[in-house]
Amino acid sequence: MNHEKDIMFAPSILSADFAMLMQDIRKVRDAEYLHVDVMDGQFVPEITIGPAVLGAIREHLREENPGQRLDVHLMIIRPELQVDRFALAGADIITVHPETTHHLHRLITRIRDLDVMAGVALNPGTPLSALDEVVEELDLVLVMSVNPGYGGQQFIPQVLGKIARVSEMLRERNPHAILEVDGGINHRNIGAVVNAGAELIVAGSSVFVGDPGENLQRLRSAALGA
Ligand code: DX5
Ligand code: ZN
Repeated sequence: MNHEKDIMFAPSILSADFAMLMQDIRKVRDAEYLHVDVMDGQFVPEITIGPAVLGAIREHLREENPGQRLDVHLMIIRPELQVDRFALAGADIITVHPETTHHLHRLITRIRDLDVMAGVALNPGTPLSALDEVVEELDLVLVMSVNPGYGGQQFIPQVLGKIARVSEMLRERNPHAILEVDGGINHRNIGAVVNAGAELIVAGSSVFVGDPGENLQRLRSAALGA
């Protein structure tokens, strides 16, 4: 299968040097998106980036690379309290975990009302049924191929079947939604991830450890060969 036109990349800046963020971001200027992992120390143990840093990145990109979009992955409890701030700071996509909010449908509606694409993320242990009542309302589904919280973890191969099932579900019920996969993706397993139906690939350590430009190129070639 040749996916030349379809596969997009979102390097995860979680694996970049936080003290040199723009310097690292410039090394992946060809990527369609930047993936921004927001962690609150509650839903997951670490605390990372908030709207202030997102806004600063957006300002620099506006000057340097306006076509690159910001894919914000919220791993925070009660995201409904924060989505307006992330939208104002310049998010293009905001993805939430169903476990973190009582009113998923209302939250998705709010994100879209803010003119931001709305995504729902499925942890490895979260069943597809979590999407059942909202799938038509989504712009994106994010399948986690590691448990959220850290970069550099091992890809969980059992998730491949789930990617294929989500792909099927989207084909039937919402063909416009993007299928994104996040966690442990590298040049060895990206072919299988793409063949299962992924369209937007998140990659942190396999991009930012070493030469990010070269690594991204290698991932693109490996995805093309899938
Ligand atoms: C994990 C994050 C991922 C992470 C991916 O909680 O959601 O986006 O940065 O990093 P790698 O590609 O190293 O698994
Ligand atoms: Zn992520």
